Amino acid sequence: MDKQKIVVFSGAGMSAESGIMTFREMGGLWEQYDVTEVASPIAWENSPQLVMDFYNQRRKQLFECEPNEGHLLIAKLEDKYDVEIVTQNVDDLHERAGSSKILHLHGELKKARSTADESLVYEMDHWELKLGDVCEKGSQLRPHIVWFGEAVPAMDDAIELVRQADIVLVVGTSLSVYPAAGLLSYIENNIPIYVIDPGSPAFTPKENITFIAEKASVGMEQLTQKLF
Ligand code: APR
Repeated sequence: MDKQKIVVFSGAGMSAESGIMTFREMGGLWEQYDVTEVASPIAWENSPQLVMDFYNQRRKQLFECEPNEGHLLIAKLEDKYDVEIVTQNVDDLHERAGSSKILHLHGELKKARSTADESLVYEMDHWELKLGDVCEKGSQLRPHIVWFGEAVPAMDDAIELVRQADIVLVVGTSLSVYPAAGLLSYIENNIPIYVIDPGSPAFTPKENITFIAEKASVGMEQLTQKLF
């Protein structure tokens, strides 16, 4: 028999226990920075150094972080299920925990891409990207991140995955950023949905939802008991 397909939709709360800051909670990143000043095409145009510094700092921190128990338990689901992860996170902690299928909706912090040709994407093995670092065609590299106001190229693939899900798991996202948050409207009726989040994500009521008001690690432990 084919394995059941679990689609995991994760957000910043997934990586909180690894020491990565969330965005919209008290003390979160968007309380310290103005989004439009560091994470938008306009910011890149007007103050590229500021944008570089913001992402360099986050990349540097990511090199010092490890996947947490929540990431590891999600990777473990592959023992029994066909697991597809759709993440809003730009970290690589699902990868490092051992998950095999991960779609990054908002880009990847450890990659840089050409400003002249978006198909030229480079893995980074160091934290610092500098003005003056160029692609093989000689154009400036930028962080491989989807900024506010930019299209989300992986959205169509993500919708397709969500439509095929037998079980959906939503972990650590406030569900306040679109189009990503709109993904959940594509879940077929009567599919079991588990939401792990100690806060109150903006979930549009749907049938068959189970809320687990816990941190990712604890919530995943409880859910693992249920799913195995
Ligand atoms: N475990 C699980 N969830 C947690 C934990 C934890 N340890 N700690 C916090 N949370 C929850 C919060 O309750 C909140 O619902 O994680 C969520 C974080 O929400 P946001 O900060 O809004 O992050 P996210 O939903 O991922 O943001 C979406 O916004 O700025 C952008 O591009 C950025 O991808 C990001 C997008």
